[in-house]
Amino acid sequence: MNARSIRDSGNPATRLVFPLDVPDRARALSLAKALAGKVGFLKVGLELFVAEGPGLLGDLRGAAPDCGLFLDLKLHDIPATVGKAMEAARNLSADLVTVHAQGGPEMMRAAVGAAGGAVVLGVTVLTSLDPSSLAELTDECRRPGLYAASLAQRALDSGCGGLVCSSLETAGLRDRFGPGPLLVNPGIRPSWGQVRDDDQKRVGTVGSALSAGADLLVIGRPIREAPSPAEAADRVLGEISQALRL
Ligand code: C5P
Repeated sequence: MNARSIRDSGNPATRLVFPLDVPDRARALSLAKALAGKVGFLKVGLELFVAEGPGLLGDLRGAAPDCGLFLDLKLHDIPATVGKAMEAARNLSADLVTVHAQGGPEMMRAAVGAAGGAVVLGVTVLTSLDPSSLAELTDECRRPGLYAASLAQRALDSGCGGLVCSSLETAGLRDRFGPGPLLVNPGIRPSWGQVRDDDQKRVGTVGSALSAGADLLVIGRPIREAPSPAEAADRVLGEISQALRL
């Protein structure tokens, strides 16, 4: 699995990452079965991983054998701890794993060194932070574009194969770093799928993210909270096909 095989697949489902942000195995497996064939990756984040443990990844592979697995633990700790955690995660055979780029180059190099075949993604600036929440941090953080670019540079220099970034920063990062890195955009809001009391602030649409150069789109609540998640996923796939002229 690499950025080129994703871009060349010609199948819109390959571009869609579905976060299994649910509290238990039963709901995760039922969504995985409902969306098998419609999404390229199933993402297991902190809530589900803490509740159900690593064994869940094998079950998901059984439920949706054609989906990639994205283990989104957003590791951020001292290099030794992150390296050991990544070594343990290697047994789970995830395709994509995440670390916080704010953890620094040494931590990211430890992660990359221990990740085996998984692509390590450096999380740049969370899509839930807006410029005013960032302004409380340092000067660099006042401008998410600059801050994301500087974290991205550190992540890529440390060997990460891709970045998690807002669609708003994607064009700038693509211009700066070229076609190599896999760019993953969370905070995607289809015009028909707005989320009540949304915590995501730096958001974009399927079309804006793909035209900015994103490879993968993480779309959770607009699919999960729709009356039919499968129909919502089909609608997203239509927008992906349209944006990519597939
Ligand atoms: O589309 P929705 O907002 O429901 O997606 C939420 C998902 O996006 C969560 O799984 C969260 O971990 C993920 N996310 C991410 N990186 C960010 C922000 C959110 O992977 N910067």
